[in-house]
Amino acid sequence: MRAGIIGAGHYVPDKIVTNADLEKIVDTNDEWIRTRTGIEERRIAEDTMDTSDMAYEAAIRAMEAANITGADIDLILVATVTPDTPFPTVSCMLQDRLGATKAAAMDLSAACAGFMYGVVTAKQFIDTAVYKNILVVGAEKLSKITDWTDRNTCVLFGDGAGAVVVGEVSDDKGILSFELGADGSGGKHLYQDKDFISMNGREVFKFAVRQMPESSLHVVEKAGYTKEDVDYLIPHQANIRIMEAARNKLGIPVEKMATSVKRFGNTSSASIPIALSEAVQNGDVKDGNLIVLVGFGGGLTWGAIAMKWGR
Ligand code: COA
Repeated sequence: MRAGIIGAGHYVPDKIVTNADLEKIVDTNDEWIRTRTGIEERRIAEDTMDTSDMAYEAAIRAMEAANITGADIDLILVATVTPDTPFPTVSCMLQDRLGATKAAAMDLSAACAGFMYGVVTAKQFIDTAVYKNILVVGAEKLSKITDWTDRNTCVLFGDGAGAVVVGEVSDDKGILSFELGADGSGGKHLYQDKDFISMNGREVFKFAVRQMPESSLHVVEKAGYTKEDVDYLIPHQANIRIMEAARNKLGIPVEKMATSVKRFGNTSSASIPIALSEAVQNGDVKDGNLIVLVGFGGGLTWGAIAMKWGR
């Protein structure tokens, strides 16, 4: 037996904000945003919808895919930098709404790499046979910490949630290798400054184009494979140019990489599980495929996983 993902689901709000919409509120233009980031539009949650509401919608879809109910969940991990409140945590709110009465619950924060930290944490409890079903959610309402007068950041982000259930799979499937890392000395490049996200885009870019390809290669090698064996790449959806750097380093054709950044922007810890859930839904990720998940974020933090999809 091995730890693996036994179900995935996602939710994004209905409201679409296009680049043209942003042209009306800050000094920017569609051409700049598309060529620098690859983003065409993003989803923004209504005032009545908070992070826990999106997390809930994603969670019930992931649980349905995994064929489990709230009563089956042993632990809930929610990666978020935009919880409804510092406490109670989003994970406790979910525990109640999902009827997951026997589940322990905690939020964890590793910014955009939070989902990777969550899945790797979940894996430890499965490997040690302590728990059977662990719900891992990445959920963000970044719009509430976005300065809508700052063109450097407001064009980049969006709201949404993705969720997976981590459980036991057969030993030819599941999580084969992982890497987690942090470099606190880079914290000054991307942080929340009182109310809003503050960013040194160029420094974050330099870090990301180095880290994403490196970590992707590391986990593939650790798993005993070569880059030619990779069937699908799911990078953190921050910027198409950063994602392309990872794809080129692995020599993966363009159709084998998730690119939902175009439609959803950067949804921080939600971006990888949203992209994974979509890829499974539309058949880009199939049973037995070798897939690589890789993320980076404020902290600075990063994480990557190589896994064989399926139960
Ligand atoms: N519209 C128009 N112009 C903009 C703009 C916008 N939305 N945002 C910034 N600019 C301007 C800048 O002010 C700068 O003007 P200046 O040269 O007169 O000072 C100019 O565009 C060029 O900026 P530059 O830094 O060269 O752009 P870039 O190619 O580095 O792209 C980012 C900027 C932010 C897209 C890029 O650095 C990036 O993606 N960084 C990583 C960010 C990230 O992923 N953050 C989340 C991590 S989880």
